[in-house]
Amino acid sequence: INNIKVFFFFLLRKMSKIQLKFPKGFLWGAASSAYQTEGGNTNSDWWAWEHSQKRMEALKKQGKEPLNYMSGIACDSYNRFDEDFALAEHLSHNAIRIGVEWSRIEPKEGVFDEDVLDHYEKMLQSAKFHGLQIFLTLHHYTNPIWFVKKGGFLKTKNISFFVDYAHHVVERLGQYVDFWVTINEPEIYATQGYALGIFPPQEKNLFKCFKVINNLIESHKQISAVIKIHSSKPVSLALNLLDFQPSGFLGEVAVRLMRYIINGYIMRRTLDYCDYIGMNYYFHHHLSWFGLRKHSHENHEKTDRGWGIHPEGLERVLLSLKKYEKPVYILENGLADAADSRREKFIKDHLYYLHCAIAKGVDVRGYLHWSLTDNFEWEEGFWPRFGLIEVDREDLLRRKVRYSATKYAEICK
Ligand code: BGC
Repeated sequence: INNIKVFFFFLLRKMSKIQLKFPKGFLWGAASSAYQTEGGNTNSDWWAWEHSQKRMEALKKQGKEPLNYMSGIACDSYNRFDEDFALAEHLSHNAIRIGVEWSRIEPKEGVFDEDVLDHYEKMLQSAKFHGLQIFLTLHHYTNPIWFVKKGGFLKTKNISFFVDYAHHVVERLGQYVDFWVTINEPEIYATQGYALGIFPPQEKNLFKCFKVINNLIESHKQISAVIKIHSSKPVSLALNLLDFQPSGFLGEVAVRLMRYIINGYIMRRTLDYCDYIGMNYYFHHHLSWFGLRKHSHENHEKTDRGWGIHPEGLERVLLSLKKYEKPVYILENGLADAADSRREKFIKDHLYYLHCAIAKGVDVRGYLHWSLTDNFEWEEGFWPRFGLIEVDREDLLRRKVRYSATKYAEICK
């Protein structure tokens, strides 16, 4: 009878709580970017755009208050980084993805601000002090104004400016960095800014978009070579990889094509210059032969931004990376959820499918949730709340740990 009791006890335990083992040394943490959190990045092209007449008028036309769409002081993380890292440590994170802001480090062409570099050194020391392995991003959508005036990434000859800046950072801060992330989502930067007209410079020109993508690929190659000389740490980009599902007649053909082009183009051309695959996962699309189906999100729960939640897609995307035989780190995955009613399940479901991919042989070594704190969500301003930690904008940017963050912390621990 006792044996039967014990058997049922274990059966019940198994049924009520699935426990998954992750590989030894797995990295657990959160991600953020410099511009979205620091505040006061007055030398950046985004700052200039937020304050431009064109942008303000466009917002007013939509009945929006321009002030709500300016990064301003953001989360004041330029000053409060230590507080943020202490919270990450408290939440049992052992890794963090942060960024440095080019327009601060090199506010004028060829002029590198030593005080700013000292500041970033303190920031990285603080992250180390709090037991966090550091993924450092060199470029996350924003540029110095002087660089944009020269034509930015539209001009191949401008690549050398970016490489020069990266060189300075690698030499000065390299000793603290565990993983390099050269460029965040070159494909999103280029399409939003040069094809869809959403990010500055708001162009709608496919030719320019393609040119920018190619120049970013070339930048990555050159910077990874610099990193190889000055740092022993692994390097990659952060690519936004999408899950595509076939729908209807010839959907499978469309899916293969889109995977090859959208997920594969930059990957194939940079793989030899990456030590690991850094990926962000947010989206899935159902594809018919005629392109994206409008109602692709109808059957799925949505985030506050209206993006469908589709954790199974993470496993599929990860399995598609197996053939490259490189370690994979999830550098971003998260949702806007101001009520914090979906985040705990979102994280657990994504981790479940991530684990399935590991079980099927994909070498996934870390998961960084987007984001550590609420922050400036680009053209959407501050309303989307992506943070594990709330930043109360009515109360001196006070940090408040969300319930879901404590549940994620249990897993991290
Ligand atoms: C970007 C982040 C952004 C997040 C949510 C990612 O693709 O790297 O900067 O905040 O998406 O939109």
